[in-house]
Amino acid sequence: MSNFSCKMFDNLILKSPLILASGISGNSDGLLIRAAKSGAAAVTTKGVTLKYQKGAENPVSTDWGPGLITNLGLSNPGIESMAYMIKTFRNEMGDQTIPIFVNIHGESAEEYAEIARLIAPSHPDLLEIDLPFPDETLAQEITHAVIENASGIPISVKISADYPKIGQLAKVIEDAGADAISAINSMKGLIVDAYAAKPFLSSGVGGISGPAIKPIALYCISEIYQAVNIPVIGTGGVLTGLDMAEMMMAGATIVGIGSALYYSGYGAFSQIMNEFETFMKSEGYQSASELVGKIWR
Ligand SMILES: Cc1cc2nc3c(=O)[nH]c(=O)nc-3n(C[C@H](O)[C@H](O)[C@H](O)COP(=O)(O)O)c2cc1C
Repeated sequence: MSNFSCKMFDNLILKSPLILASGISGNSDGLLIRAAKSGAAAVTTKGVTLKYQKGAENPVSTDWGPGLITNLGLSNPGIESMAYMIKTFRNEMGDQTIPIFVNIHGESAEEYAEIARLIAPSHPDLLEIDLPFPDETLAQEITHAVIENASGIPISVKISADYPKIGQLAKVIEDAGADAISAINSMKGLIVDAYAAKPFLSSGVGGISGPAIKPIALYCISEIYQAVNIPVIGTGGVLTGLDMAEMMMAGATIVGIGSALYYSGYGAFSQIMNEFETFMKSEGYQSASELVGKIWR
């Protein structure tokens, strides 16, 4: 598998392009370790806020057929627990140095700055900013605020498909100094329980993920790839090695999986990598980087 090693930045090389996306398995050190030992080339924590958040009441998630809908209400232990989580993860992984990315969520540029300042001494391998609203001015402000407080830790900004000019938004973020763009986040949706005459989720709306959003993710990644010169961390509906190859061809340098863990468990990492390897061999590709943006070259 070593020929699939993947350079994100000069000082961040992954053993493969397949990583754990933020969310489904990222809110405890035990689950992150499990993902890493199952083959993830890097792991991303669940979004962490400044303070502990209890989260939403059940039901928080359902499989509605073509995808999942989830609203956990950002349940997380707060930024102060993150230092311990990173330390435990690194101790447990020992010589197998699997990078750990921390996904952060704030309500203002000031709050993001504070979160970055508190987490910087733990040196995560990347800070992924979960951008709350798709807004160019705010994206710029938050990116600057995090960079100023992150002591040189690389930054990726995660954007959702809700913004109509997603390539332009990505360019603004690149110009503000971000090192990468993550796309896409889950998309707003609503599932109705007709018998109960209520939304299915306790919070009403939720985030749609899984196969239902894959074509939208591919479109957004293509737009971003063509607008910027920094790497794209692609997420959205990847369940197979072929999905992964398609996402890289659209422009992703690395690919994150979330919902795949719901469908296939932790075996998703080896299953997807085996399928990816079969595709690479059958099509005569020598390295993962050959695929990146292939449909646009
Ligand atoms: C249960 C769940 C929790 C998530 N939590 C976060 C989060 O805290 N921060 C974030 O940026 N994205 C979060 N996401 C979005 C995923 O990282 C990913 O971008 C999205 O689900 C699309 O990928 P997928 O189809 O492989 O799941 C979450 C997704 C799910 C399903």
